[in-house]
Amino acid sequence: MTEARQIVLARRPEGDVTADCFRAETATLPALGDGQILVRTRFLSLDPYMRPRMTELRSYTPPFELDKPLTGGSVGEVVESKNPRYAKGDTVIGMLNWASHTVHDGKGLRKIEAAGVPLQAHLGVLGMPSFTAWYGIRQICKPKEGETVFVSAATGAVGQVAGQLAKLSGARVVGCAGGEEKCQWAVREAGYDACFNHKAERDVGAVLDKLCPQGIDADFENVGGRIFHAVFARLNNFGRVAFCGAISEYQDAKPLAGPEKMFTIVQRRLTLQGFIISDHVALMAEFVNEVGGLVKSGKLKARETVVDGLDRAPEAFMGLLKGENFGKLVVKVG
Ligand SMILES: NC(=O)c1ccc[n+]([C@@H]2O[C@H](COP(=O)([O-])OP(=O)(O)OC[C@H]3O[C@@H](n4cnc5c(N)ncnc54)[C@H](OP(=O)(O)O)[C@@H]3O)[C@@H](O)[C@H]2O)c1
Repeated sequence: MTEARQIVLARRPEGDVTADCFRAETATLPALGDGQILVRTRFLSLDPYMRPRMTELRSYTPPFELDKPLTGGSVGEVVESKNPRYAKGDTVIGMLNWASHTVHDGKGLRKIEAAGVPLQAHLGVLGMPSFTAWYGIRQICKPKEGETVFVSAATGAVGQVAGQLAKLSGARVVGCAGGEEKCQWAVREAGYDACFNHKAERDVGAVLDKLCPQGIDADFENVGGRIFHAVFARLNNFGRVAFCGAISEYQDAKPLAGPEKMFTIVQRRLTLQGFIISDHVALMAEFVNEVGGLVKSGKLKARETVVDGLDRAPEAFMGLLKGENFGKLVVKVG
């Protein structure tokens, strides 16, 4: 019998997520059945999409269930196996419980090489967030030399990679982030041409007019809300928007209405495309080849925040929704 430490959804949030939405508990896991494996979690990824999953709203992923462990992208080690596809000692990546251990049928998990890079990199710069950035930049924003690209949440797990890939394409890249330290890192380390602190700017439009005097050709949209409204009004003819997320709206009971004057889309011949990265797994090998090479050669930099201990996951997740993470947020579970 294995005792698992786990975090369950205790209550659905209304507005801001609060500590009482979570409950830490110890559960006795059932003995393995045929085809099952027991996985010990090493690292758990915390991601913004988990916030909508805490509600009952219909989305592209089903809601978390009340009184059941939340789940998230994780790297773990197989500690027991009754599944011929996995052996004790294998390192796997995929959706596991917010827990020290998960009993799993193995479906949707993938074996990875544990050597070479830090394990948590598979959840960040070599994983889903970075793949998301690569897809949005390569397939939707398609920046050309001399164009201006805007990236919101510019130093986050996705944004930091999106900005650097746009820069490597020869574009002028402007971003926004929640603090001076993040903005300085964006310019000095990630190569952004400019980055403004959205928490200090009331008039985002005026800042964009200053930093993007030629308008904006492509927007990698992570934040939505007032930042997107200001960007939308400054898109050039044939502008592209990769709609990746809208984190500023995830906690709002009443999100802002869309930008004014939607006829702008026609007048400026804009392309606004939403995407969910799990629809594009067929391109994963291409991403790993390109971005893996850039990471190895030091051409692509990545920040991460590693929080120690599963019990701190709720607090870290609430912090993510306020911008307390810097780069990819992961929890070191064991
Ligand atoms: N479409 C897909 O398949 C896909 C996949 C992965 C992620 N996403 C989306 O991509 C976006 C970024 O995700 P990530 O994993 O890279 O997270 P992240 O940027 O590492 O963390 C979230 C960041 O969002 C910013 N933020 C939070 N509340 C905000 C607000 N009210 N206004 C402005 N900024 C706010 C904070 O940064 P600051 O300190 O800079 O404010 C925070 O650090 C999210 O919208 C997420 O849902 C989409």
